[in-house]
Amino acid sequence: MMRGALLGMSRSSTIKNVVTRAPVTRGVVTRFVAGDSTADAVEATRALAADDLRVTIDHLGEDTTDRGQAARVAVAYVELLGALHTAGLSDRAEVSVKLSALGQYLPQGGEDLALENARTICQAAANAGTTVTLDAEDHTTTDSTLGVLAELRRDFPDTGAVLQAYLRRTEEDCAALAVAGSRVRLCKGAYQEHESVAFSDPHAVDLSYVRCLRVLIDGPGYPMVASHDPRLIAIAADLVTRAGRSRDSYEFQMLYGVRPAEQVRLARLGHTVRIYLPYGDDWYGYLVRRLAERPANLAFFARSLVGR
Ligand code: FDA
Repeated sequence: MMRGALLGMSRSSTIKNVVTRAPVTRGVVTRFVAGDSTADAVEATRALAADDLRVTIDHLGEDTTDRGQAARVAVAYVELLGALHTAGLSDRAEVSVKLSALGQYLPQGGEDLALENARTICQAAANAGTTVTLDAEDHTTTDSTLGVLAELRRDFPDTGAVLQAYLRRTEEDCAALAVAGSRVRLCKGAYQEHESVAFSDPHAVDLSYVRCLRVLIDGPGYPMVASHDPRLIAIAADLVTRAGRSRDSYEFQMLYGVRPAEQVRLARLGHTVRIYLPYGDDWYGYLVRRLAERPANLAFFARSLVGR
């Protein structure tokens, strides 16, 4: 119930206005967000790279219904990719992009606008020698996002997708995307979804995750195992070994600020580990989804709101 209420909050502009103006201690936000600026994102990447971790950087923002704002997000990514290249970090970092931040929700021509903006970002990534992965948002956008992915992959075949194991459709989507050259990040899913489209029982989500993992790992693509769940990480490690996959043919991924010791432990074992690193000042929706994932985070946040 708490998770549902929080996920509802993540889309409320009224609550967003109250929370983002409250004197939230910097500590809560900085645990999960690298900073406000491009320079902050580059510095955090450098620090993670020193621990032999890879990075995928998200310029925070979502649900844009303003063409100008969507264009500004694309420009921010182009600037970021240029800065990573200049800093010599583009072999360590790629970017993650939410199509809703690029205009996908606009009622007239939103999908075309998001595709055009995403193309600009993919070109900048190619120029810098790195890649782009399209984040997954709520289920109403899945068909549109996979359609945009197919278009982008014609010119930028290494563009990656995210699939959410909680959606009932995902096992089929995994089968469709388990093709040579295809990069697929598998996560559990972070949005509020109806029982008709998504599993709500956590155990059913885990079972779906394992079924999807098998499809991706047995296929010829590049699976990206995005989870902090110790059981799923152990199962994935076992499946890649059984499939005879080499260490450069898959990766583990985790969120910035979540289980950092485990991130380093897996990297030291020789796995490729990539950290999803958000930056920017539009952190509200992202932060509330992280709070919804773990009640202990919520207590931490509540204490900071009342200044304790
Ligand atoms: P689960 O939530 O069961 O957590 C397992 C354990 O991990 C917990 O017991 C706790 O110890 C730790 N943990 C997990 N979340 C935590 C948190 N926020 N704070 C502290 N500890 C935590 N979702 C989506 O819908 N679309 C997307 O595009 C993405 N992209 C994405 C990229 C990457 C790299 C990751 C790792 C995750 C996503 N997600 C996402 C989020 C994902 O769907 C999911 O909500 C979270 O990863 C939490 O699920 P876990 O698999 O970690 O398991």
